[in-house]
Amino acid sequence: MISKIVGNVTPSATCELEGLIGSMKKEGINVVALNIGEPDFKTPEPICDACKDALDAHKTTYVATAGIPELRQAICAKLQRDNGLTYTPEQICVSTGAKQALFNAVMAVANPGDEVIIPTPGWVSYVEMVKLVGGVPVCVPCTPDFQLDLNAIRQAVTEKTAAIIINSPNNPTGAVYSMESLRAVAQLAVEKDLYIIADEIYEKLIYGDARHVSIASLSPEIYQRTIVINGMSKAYRMTGWRIGYSAAPLDLAKGISALQSHVTSNSTTFVQWAALEALEHGEEGVKQMVSEFVARRDYAYERACQLPHVTCTKPDGAFYLMPDVSWYYGKTDGTHVISDSFAMSEYLLQQYHVAVVPGGAFMAPGAIRIAYTNSMSEIQRGFDRIAQALAALH
Ligand SMILES: Cc1ncc(COP(=O)(O)O)c(C=O)c1O
Repeated sequence: MISKIVGNVTPSATCELEGLIGSMKKEGINVVALNIGEPDFKTPEPICDACKDALDAHKTTYVATAGIPELRQAICAKLQRDNGLTYTPEQICVSTGAKQALFNAVMAVANPGDEVIIPTPGWVSYVEMVKLVGGVPVCVPCTPDFQLDLNAIRQAVTEKTAAIIINSPNNPTGAVYSMESLRAVAQLAVEKDLYIIADEIYEKLIYGDARHVSIASLSPEIYQRTIVINGMSKAYRMTGWRIGYSAAPLDLAKGISALQSHVTSNSTTFVQWAALEALEHGEEGVKQMVSEFVARRDYAYERACQLPHVTCTKPDGAFYLMPDVSWYYGKTDGTHVISDSFAMSEYLLQQYHVAVVPGGAFMAPGAIRIAYTNSMSEIQRGFDRIAQALAALH
């Protein structure tokens, strides 16, 4: 019999949807993909070249579990430069994507039965990660404009609370948390002796006047209780390369490396050399990508606001929009009844061939998640189809 813990895991909705879209495409159906959580830009050539050079130099052996010293040093330099955070290489663990770094972090701070607070809407994997370590996810809804609801978070803290996971810029909402709300969460964590797991994977994808602040930088006390998570996937278009990292107080960092030494050991050695190139020389490419995303965000937001009976908060970061489509629940095109966000996404995909992710997967039952990680013309086509699909409902 499958174990209780694994039997209790819900597969990632975003990964599953990808499979379905793949088979529709194979059947020759022209799907407009507004579901994808990765930039549609290629990994920059210098990063690919650094990987090829590493292979040519046979940098293909096991290395230290926590990563090659050069990369860990470069991560420390990045954290100092971008976030005002001082770490030594011993505090860094390079992992197989930010996903593994997050899982390590959750395992490092939560004992079985401990509660972990997750503001929602939230990324699909947090709840499952907490369940996987035998913890109890405690979902706390954000305010209607997707900011942290500090009173609700405070009220959710119990004797059993071990940690709060915060993710800014946020997937799926695109919200960037204000300095005041980060300060308030930091204060709460210090007061109640909680850890913060700060998922900053979308740090570089931030628009307009919005600024990213790493919560760990707010005081020495919060630095001591924060595990910062970041990685190469989103900023440097390296999703498939699988490199992320954690930066943590030394005792936790040691525990994280020990844990990883029994699970995957080091992340792929020659890819670490590519990550080093990205961190040292990748910023120009990031800037170009961000300016393209700003234009797409503005366009997609405008189109979402024009959809009848749909409300949408303007996102300041990441590459997602989270329009509320719940006015259409209970409506039908004569054949399909739109009962919830899952039914809405299925209707859009099967009947109008436009892929979005149901908000229900992110604990946002009234919404769908639209990713603007596709070309402007595809985003335009996608919104045309969504508009048609909604107009057919009564
Ligand atoms: C909020 C968030 N955190 C972490 C990850 C995982 O990143 P990686 O691909 O580096 O494992 C993702 C990927 O979609 C994400 O959206």
